[in-house]
Amino acid sequence: MDDKHDGPLTKDGIRLHSEADFAGMHRAGQVTARILDDIAEHVFPGQTTEELDRLITQMVEASGATSATIGYRGYQHASCISVNHVVCHGIPSNKVLKAGDILNIDVTVILDGWFGDSSRMYVAGEIPRKAERLVQVTYDSLMLGIEAVRPGNTFGDIGHAIQSYVESQRMSVVRDFCGHGLGRVFHAPPNVLHYGRPGTGPRLEEGMFFTIEPMVNLGRPETKVLADDWTAVTRDKSLSAQFEHSIGVTATGFEIFTLSPKGKFHPTWR
Ligand code: MF3
Ligand code: CO
Ligand code: CO
Repeated sequence: MDDKHDGPLTKDGIRLHSEADFAGMHRAGQVTARILDDIAEHVFPGQTTEELDRLITQMVEASGATSATIGYRGYQHASCISVNHVVCHGIPSNKVLKAGDILNIDVTVILDGWFGDSSRMYVAGEIPRKAERLVQVTYDSLMLGIEAVRPGNTFGDIGHAIQSYVESQRMSVVRDFCGHGLGRVFHAPPNVLHYGRPGTGPRLEEGMFFTIEPMVNLGRPETKVLADDWTAVTRDKSLSAQFEHSIGVTATGFEIFTLSPKGKFHPTWR
C-alpha cells in the first residue's frame, strides 16, 4: 500500500487521520451496518449459522465492498457467528439455532481501502431473562466506553468505564481479546482493552480510528480456544455477549462509523 498520503503516527504508533479519511471510514462502516441491519430478519429458530454467513457473503458482494475476513489468516467466512457460550470467532456451521439462543454476528468489509468492523447481538425466539440482561449490560457497556472517547482522555478511561459498569452488574469482562486500531488496515495499534484504570494508557487524539468491542460473560472471564484454532468459548460454559463499533476521535468527542441506518443496533429494536 502506498502510504505517502497517510497521516502521522503518534509515539505509541497510532495513526492520526484526516477529514477525508473520516468520510472513507463512514462509507465503509455504513456498508457493514446495513448488512447487520439486513441480516436480522433471517435470525430465527431452525436457521443455521452457515446460511446466515451465505446471506452475508451475498450482501457484501452486492454492496460493492469486499470481505475483510475471507482469507484473513486462513479464515474462510464473511462473518464470525458466536452462539451462547462462544465468546468470539465462532465459525459458521450447519448447527441449527434453537429458541432461546443468543448470538453475535461480526462483519468486517473493505470499501475503497477502508475497513468497517462491527458486531451486534441477535436472538432466536424468546430468550431467558438472564440472557436479556447480559445483552443489555454488554450494549450499555459499549456505549459507556464510547462516551469516554474525547481528546485528552486515555484508553484506560475507556476500559475503566466498561469494566466498572459490567462488574457493578455482577458480570465479567473478557481479558483475552481486545479492540484494535483500524483504518486502511484491519488490526493496528493500539490494543483497546475493555478493562483498566482511569488516566492510564495512550492519550486519545483527534484522528485516531479504533474499535471498541467488549465481550461480557455471565460467569467468569476466562476463555479457551477450541481445536479449530478460532472458536473462543467461556471456560465455565457461561453465556457471553459482545457488541462492536468502529469509531473515530473528533475534536470534541467521537464519530461512530458503524451506527445502524435503521436504528436497529440493539436486538430488542428489530
Ligand atoms: N471482526 C473481528 C474483530 O472484531 C475479527 C475477525 S477475524 C476472523 O476484530 F478472521 F476471525 F474473521
Ligand atoms: Co474488531
Ligand atoms: Co469485528
